[in-house]
Order: sequence, then structure tokens, then C-alpha cells
Amino acid sequence: MARNKVSVIGAGNVGATTAQRIAEGGLADVVLVDIAEGIAAGKALDLWEAAPVSSHDCRLEGGGDYALTEGSDIVVMTAGIARKPGMSRDDLVRTNFRVVTECTKKWMTYSPDAMIIMVTNPLDVMTYTTYRASGLPVNRVVGMAGTVC
Ligand SMILES: NC(=O)c1ccc[n+]([C@@H]2O[C@H](COP(=O)([O-])OP(=O)(O)OC[C@H]3O[C@@H](n4cnc5c(N)ncnc54)[C@H](O)[C@@H]3O)[C@@H](O)[C@H]2O)c1
Repeated sequence: MARNKVSVIGAGNVGATTAQRIAEGGLADVVLVDIAEGIAAGKALDLWEAAPVSSHDCRLEGGGDYALTEGSDIVVMTAGIARKPGMSRDDLVRTNFRVVTECTKKWMTYSPDAMIIMVTNPLDVMTYTTYRASGLPVNRVVGMAGTVC
């Protein structure tokens, strides 16, 4: 039976942790994509090689080519810049709008039936950005947020 496939765009702190949680939970095969393709490939390989000691059999792959993401059930978007000291989430808008728009067009080419979970900040704006850029129905576009201050 085919396993579910989750693609995580952005292999930084949040993206790599997301990939690890998914794999160690045995939830899905995972693809990590990043503009820094060697980082994505390396982190995916590290996580995959740890599978025997973490007791899961999920497959992890990584790189910069969106063809790897083909047929994803879920795409988790973590790519973009994070806040630096003195910045508010709103300071991220201009850069992350460009990143989210560009990435959405790329993964949509390979997984038009996926559901998107947006993590990149500012969350409400980026969730709306991917909703507009993807053309997906509202019930397939989700923003992930906890209690932040
Ligand atoms: N929603 C939430 O609750 C929540 C929580 C934590 C962080 N965030 C947000 O998540 C985002 C990621 O945070 P982080 O700590 O992982 O940052 P990070 O800097 O560790 O990782 C971001 C990654 O995105 C990659 N990236 C940048 N532009 C890209 C592009 N065009 N295509 C592909 N990859 C690209 C970078 O190379 C980097 O590896 C930030 O915007 C942050 O504010 C949201």
C-alpha cells in the first residue's frame, strides 16, 4: 500500500523539525526542498539514515528540485526568512510574499491535488498569499499557528 507523502518546503529549523516529527511518527514519506539544495539533501539523508534507530520506515529525500515533490498529499510551507532581533512578523511581508508566491507555483505544478499547511510568517498574510497563488479551494489551505506572543 502506498504511504502518504508530505513535502516540506524550507529545510531550516521549522522545516527540518517538521520532517523529523513526521518520519518518527511514521506518518508519511517526506521530501524536504530548499533553495539551499545541499542542506535539504543532507538533512533528509541524516534523518533517513537514523530510521533504524528511530524505529520508523518512512523514506526521506531532499534537494532543490520540485520534481521530488510530485504527488504529495500535503505540502508544508516553512520557506522564507524568520524574524531577527528588533523585527516584527510584519517586517517579513515583502520577502516572504515573494518566496511563498514563487514556491507555490512550483509545488502546484507537481501536486495540484495537495493540501497546503502554511507556517511561514506573517501567517495570516502568507496563508492568504498561497490561497490566491494556488487557486486551491479554501478547505485545502490551512495556516498553522499556536499561541504566539
Ligand atoms: N506559524 C508558526 O507558528 C511559526 C513558528 C515558527 C516559525 N515560523 C515561521 O516559519 C518560517 C521559517 O522559520 P525557520 O526558523 O525555520 O527559519 P530558517 O531560516 O531556519 O529556515 C528557512 C528556510 O527557508 C529557506 N528558503 C528561503 N527562501 C527560499 C526559497 N525561495 N525557496 C526554498 N527555500 C527557501 C532557507 O534557505 C531556509 O533554509 C519563518 O517565516 C518563521 O517566522 C512560523
